[in-house]
Amino acid sequence: MTKTSSFSAPKGVPDYTPPGSAEFVAVRDGLIQAARLAGYGHIELPVFEQTALFARGVGESTDVVSKEMWTFADRNGESFTLRPEGTAGVMRAVIQHGLDRTGSLPLKLCYAGPFFRYERPQAGRYRQLQQVGIEAIGIDDPALDAEVIAVADAGFRSLGLDGFRLEITSLGDETCRPQYRELLQEFLLGLPLDEETRRRAEINPLRVLDDKRPEVRELTADAPLMIDHLSESAKAHFDEVLAHLDALGVPYVVNPRMVRGLDYYTKTTFEFVHDKLGAQSGIGGGGRYDGLMAQLGGQPLSGIGFGIGVDRTVLALAAEGKTAADPARCQVYGVGLGDEARARIVALAGELRAAGVSVDLAYGGRGLKGAMKGADRSGAKYTLVLGDRDLADNSIGVKEMATGEQRQVSLDTVVAELRAALAA
Ligand code: HAM
Repeated sequence: MTKTSSFSAPKGVPDYTPPGSAEFVAVRDGLIQAARLAGYGHIELPVFEQTALFARGVGESTDVVSKEMWTFADRNGESFTLRPEGTAGVMRAVIQHGLDRTGSLPLKLCYAGPFFRYERPQAGRYRQLQQVGIEAIGIDDPALDAEVIAVADAGFRSLGLDGFRLEITSLGDETCRPQYRELLQEFLLGLPLDEETRRRAEINPLRVLDDKRPEVRELTADAPLMIDHLSESAKAHFDEVLAHLDALGVPYVVNPRMVRGLDYYTKTTFEFVHDKLGAQSGIGGGGRYDGLMAQLGGQPLSGIGFGIGVDRTVLALAAEGKTAADPARCQVYGVGLGDEARARIVALAGELRAAGVSVDLAYGGRGLKGAMKGADRSGAKYTLVLGDRDLADNSIGVKEMATGEQRQVSLDTVVAELRAALAA
């Protein structure tokens, strides 16, 4: 005899099952819809890519690349990685297919799906996470930065979410960032830091500003900030982005100490933070990445985009006590009593679905009482009851569940009548 075992989903990987899965779908689709309204077209990409794409695109020294990648060798020994984020893959596809050479710019793309990071699982931090993301490639216009941010803001609000804030800063560009980096490094290396933090200051000084330990925070309280050392053009760019956000009515707070976990950002950088989520409060983030495309072997085109965490947005809605979706409900519930009537109602369900009406049926030959309990539980607006006697005079009972009112309707017209009643 084979030994029985029980299986469970991999650690840190959520399942979405009914009825909660309706919430997940409503959030994902609502965010995608916000992108559609601004003209972003869909791009569907592989969930694994050559490992070097992420190492080069996201940055070797980031936690995402150095600690969190799901990397494996295929049967030929080539190294692949489950995508930890979407931007590098989008750039790869744009370059590979020459999408930046065939149409007008900016090229505007939207994607949704799973991403993989080998993080320590906790509430809101998963090893398989879901994002909706957009990327706008090829035009460096502050109005486009504002559009990208406004799409995220509108997406959240379309779901009913309002307990979040947008934090924004500028990380400068190649004309001011190298000088600032040196300045910060000099400041940090003059502090009595522990060995590991010193090493971090040497490799990636910006990340030290993100250190959550109170003693490091205190030491770095007076650290020079990028925002005070922007070049004239980077400063003008940032001011213009903020002016567009004001005009769009998108509220924000400038957070000059913001540090993102990915290395490709330049100039405008932002995060959406929800205060009711505890430690994992980032529901979305993004920014400009003007050097990425050239770094990956493409034309030197600019880009800006965001990734929104669908899982965390679902949690944020729950934390606000809101729902974005009705649980999957059918509009009509059908009950057949007797063999012939049961067969007829199966066919009728097919006709109704073909007419765009959602239908569920009482299965398993239940009697009227049990079937009506099923009808109540289903949340359907109308219940159809078909007995063999109704069948004989070509009619069917239609009960409106909210009022309890029941009437006989001809089987010839019931599809049209229900469709009309549900559309009203
Ligand atoms: P990111 O900030 O690394 O950016 O991720 C975006 C969002 O994904 C986060 O704000 C968070 O909501 C969600 N997320 C990240 N890691 C986890 C996790 N372990 N569990 C649950 N949710 C998570 C990016 O990925 C960039 N590619 C965004 C971007 C697009 N920038 C420019 N274009």
